[in-house]
Amino acid sequence: MWGLVSTSKRITSIKTVLLRQSHRYMCQSEDSIRRFISENTEIVGQQSLTPEFRLRLFTPSCKFWTQRPELWPYSDPYWAIYWPGGQALSRFLLDNPVVCRGRTVLDLGSGNGASAIAAALSGASHVVANDIDSVAAIATHMNSELNGLQPPVCLTANMIGSQLAAFDLILLGDMFYDESLATSLHSWLDHCIKSHGTEVLIGDPGRAQFEEHNIRRLLRPLAQFELPESVREENYGLTHSCVWRYTPEL
Ligand SMILES: C[S@@+](CC[C@H](N)C(=O)[O-])C[C@H]1O[C@@H](n2cnc3c(N)ncnc32)[C@H](O)[C@@H]1O
Repeated sequence: MWGLVSTSKRITSIKTVLLRQSHRYMCQSEDSIRRFISENTEIVGQQSLTPEFRLRLFTPSCKFWTQRPELWPYSDPYWAIYWPGGQALSRFLLDNPVVCRGRTVLDLGSGNGASAIAAALSGASHVVANDIDSVAAIATHMNSELNGLQPPVCLTANMIGSQLAAFDLILLGDMFYDESLATSLHSWLDHCIKSHGTEVLIGDPGRAQFEEHNIRRLLRPLAQFELPESVREENYGLTHSCVWRYTPEL
């Protein structure tokens, strides 16, 4: 239904659709969106890099899998996919709990909330999940509850470029899929690091927009993970996903 290859085109269309959708969301209760998510996702646990927790995801057994995308009543459900960049980042946090323990963490572009969940499981003192899709915020609540966790604070405003409260750590899972998004993120991250000494971790499977971006040469590799077979199949031949620390000299 939704291919990863056309992600950036989709984002452009999402910006248009979001204006239309935001009114529709406001008219829907959280309960009805929860019901929709329950009925149109499958609870998945073992097939990702983080079998420690489960997520409600879009799979071939969901009825919309074979239906025309335009029948989906919301904007594209990025939150219903566990992206390879987010998988690597979440795996890294679970393997290295000291990275999050006792720290304030922002998962920006949180989607289904997986990295926010990994941060909470790793002992973060406070976790904020930020995604401009308000359905993603509800999915994040549901996924946290599914794993017996208190949901993080979920914010749906666009925080990129804003004056940010001081977070110890910012997580970016698969957020470098679009050149203009990557560029605005880059300058905003510089601001966060300069103002607050924030640590920035990025998970990415080597997408072209990431590899070719200026930020790429300023990153230090921390870990590389081989993607499980099912994730490779869903991601058109991607085989690995890496975690990077952004350490610019400012
Ligand atoms: C490719 S998905 C990654 C989701 C998750 N981090 C993961 O790795 O599974 C990108 C997400 O970023 C969100 N997004 C796009 N632009 C954003 C922005 N300016 N601020 C916050 N979230 C944004 C999208 O709605 C989408 O859920």
